[in-house]
Amino acid sequence: MQLKDRTTERFDPEPSPDCGRCSRLEAFRATNRAANPDWFNRPVPGFGDANARLLIIGLAPGLKGANRTGRPFTGDWAGDLLFATLAKFGFADGAYQARPDDGLRLNDVFITNAVRCVPPQNKPVGAEITNCRPFLAAQIRSMAKLRLLLALGRIAHDSTLSALAEKRSAHAFGHNATHRLEGGLMLVDSYHCSRYNTNTRRLTVDMFEQVFENIRGLLES
Ligand code: URA
Repeated sequence: MQLKDRTTERFDPEPSPDCGRCSRLEAFRATNRAANPDWFNRPVPGFGDANARLLIIGLAPGLKGANRTGRPFTGDWAGDLLFATLAKFGFADGAYQARPDDGLRLNDVFITNAVRCVPPQNKPVGAEITNCRPFLAAQIRSMAKLRLLLALGRIAHDSTLSALAEKRSAHAFGHNATHRLEGGLMLVDSYHCSRYNTNTRRLTVDMFEQVFENIRGLLES
């Protein structure tokens, strides 16, 4: 994947387990490690098919979800909806059981987060999103067959555009909007599949499935 690249520093797609780029998140990890030493409590690596055409970008690990289990979206409500929908649209094989050793396999999709460490109150601040962006850019760059990015929520949308050096003003966030980017890449947006959004019906199961219908159509076109 050719990306416009303004940095000279080289990044791997995954931060080191003791990444110290964000002091607040590093301190929060230490607090969580002391309180729950058997939880993962590290930057959560991506999960799925590294050779995929589809990359899903979430927000950040949930405290008792990915931060506990060590796999994105695993162990919280957002994952229940995401993995059920991936299975329905042929992107996952096996039964999701909210554990990283459930044997679930993803087909043609890889999942990562805009911010790799759990943030207090589920809210990363702007500097943390910026600090973590080189890892997102490296993830995108590493995927030779990548055609489509799915941003779950506005923060993932904005950070993905910046990682690709695309103008945010040219691509307004919109649920199920499709953005045509440089190099033939496409970006699709969805409201985040969080419990809050589904409880308030900002996002329904039907609305989320429509996004995946759109994605299937775009990947087949
Ligand atoms: N879990 C994740 O890994 N990412 C999210 O955005 C939400 C829950």
